Amino acid sequence: MTNIRFDDQVVIVTGAGGGLGRAYALDIARRGGAVVVNDLGGTVEGDSRSTAMADRVVDEITAAGGRAIANYDSVAEAEGAQNIVDAALQAFGRVDALVNNAGTMRIASLEDSSDEDLESLISVHLAGSYQVSKAVWPHMKRQGYGRLVFTASSAGLFGHEGQGCYGAAKAGVFGLMNGFALEGESHGILCNAIMPNAYSRMTDKAQEHIDPQMLQRASALLSEVQNAMQPEFTAGLVSFLLSRHCTSTHGMYSSCAGRIARAFVGVTAGWQGSREVPATAEDVAGNFDEICSPGRGIYAPLGPADEFRIVMSQPSPFAGGD
Ligand code: NAI
Repeated sequence: MTNIRFDDQVVIVTGAGGGLGRAYALDIARRGGAVVVNDLGGTVEGDSRSTAMADRVVDEITAAGGRAIANYDSVAEAEGAQNIVDAALQAFGRVDALVNNAGTMRIASLEDSSDEDLESLISVHLAGSYQVSKAVWPHMKRQGYGRLVFTASSAGLFGHEGQGCYGAAKAGVFGLMNGFALEGESHGILCNAIMPNAYSRMTDKAQEHIDPQMLQRASALLSEVQNAMQPEFTAGLVSFLLSRHCTSTHGMYSSCAGRIARAFVGVTAGWQGSREVPATAEDVAGNFDEICSPGRGIYAPLGPADEFRIVMSQPSPFAGGD
């Protein structure tokens, strides 16, 4: 069996003062890695700050014989992101991997969300992942090696009621991962995104907004998955994606109640119209079943060129032949 180790490696985990980030930091440290435990130490909504959360996790790691330092900067600020990377370089001399995990949550319908809600969520999830990845990039490029894990969400890929702004920020994280993955591959830098599912203070907060009757109906299912919803159940996936053994890049992975799976964006074979004259609205209406039906297969293109290749491999039934 492959033994995943981080001896001589340094990993930055943002938002590691609790929940999922803490579980990742503990697992990496247990496997010999030196960890930068970054956490702003604020509320779920992103208000206030403190040093206590990051310090507590560093104490846990060092008490168990591991190596870790704390950092309290915000990922949402370019200067803060640079400080996080500088702290790693100063303390340990290198950075091998980064988990963009820091996150906040504001629950409201899009109708009730404020501009500040949207800006705040985008600044932490999307801009924060961008800033820290950018800060670590030149260092990883120089050493010709790096592993980045971006934390997205099923609320971003699939949508979730009451989490429109949060989901939009998380959907942006997939786009960011795609870009960094394509730019990093030739430099030995591999990037993947995850969609975790775990009980944490963030999900406690989200549950406060769920209709109590619906919660009651779901209680049997929830108690069945309770154990597998602990953050530790996602740590194995993250440690693998951060390790030398991982060769995946440009991938999306879901961790849900003990099940780990790769996710794809699928496109149906669709309806191929004429390449001579544009399809009319009536053509679309008349062929809507074929446009939507997965019956002739679902494709998962890895980029625009790949989608063109798939489309061009299906000859237009309207093409004139000789
Ligand atoms: P959490 O609230 O326990 O952890 C998030 C951590 O990020 C907190 O410790 C917080 O202080 C820190 N943080 C917030 N803003 C920061 C900033 N600007 N700079 C540095 N640190 C900051 O929540 P949880 O559940 O552990 O979430 C971890 C990540 O996973 C988040 O990005 C969240 O959106 C994502 N996620 C969680 C899911 C779940 O089921 N728990 C589902 C999908 C995504």
